[in-house]
Amino acid sequence: MTNTSPTPKFSRLPDHLAIVPDGNGRWAEQRGLSRLDGHQAGAENMYRMINYLNEYPIKYVTLYGFSTENWTRPKEEVSGLFQLLENFINKCISEFCEKSIRLRHLGRLNDLPSSLQLAINSSVELTRNNTRMTLNLAFNYGGRAEIIDAVRRLVAKDIKPQNIDEELFNSYLYTAGLPDVDLLIRTGDELRLSNFLIWQTAYSEYHFTKVLWPDFSKKDIDKALLSYSRRKRRFGGL
Ligand code: IPE
Ligand code: MG
Repeated sequence: MTNTSPTPKFSRLPDHLAIVPDGNGRWAEQRGLSRLDGHQAGAENMYRMINYLNEYPIKYVTLYGFSTENWTRPKEEVSGLFQLLENFINKCISEFCEKSIRLRHLGRLNDLPSSLQLAINSSVELTRNNTRMTLNLAFNYGGRAEIIDAVRRLVAKDIKPQNIDEELFNSYLYTAGLPDVDLLIRTGDELRLSNFLIWQTAYSEYHFTKVLWPDFSKKDIDKALLSYSRRKRRFGGL
């Protein structure tokens, strides 16, 4: 795959871009549609956005699809979201291979329906040698759950307290091997992190927009990337 358009307008792009795609329900409500119709439109936009981002030299993209807290939503919405992800994976997998997109899953896989687990596992396996862009799907993901899972694994391995440092801890997270998040975008007019990548966003830049996720376009992502490219990152220094 040739690198078609790393447009020169951005002096700097994030290595790791994370997105909280919020606002599907409100988008649907505004149109007199069901919440699931909103999620369907959200999934279609996910597809458009991934293809668009793949044109940029952005190495890692992480999308928040379903949080450990989303289980409290009505049963039909939860199962609808599971079905949507399964369809999404089945629809996209060959294209991900063509475009050299590697898929990873972040979260607790075991609590998900077995057909979805299978779809996730096989797509992760099928794309493992792809190198152009890594797409992390945070699905049944919680930042606190991730930290708890890391601590459990550390303790199970009998790691000595004095051997625990940030680098080691990082390697026990779902995101092992990934760089910290450089830019986090949240759509849908909410100004919060909602338990997303709480360890990995310690020094991230944030971009919040009122645009509802199904409407979030090329133009909107470029606006966020441009804003990021103009920021001075200090990481606690001067
Ligand atoms: C985001 O849209 C998608 C998921 C959380 C799965 P919402 O469903 O939160 O949409 P709003 O916030 O109700 O508009
Ligand atoms: Mg919401």
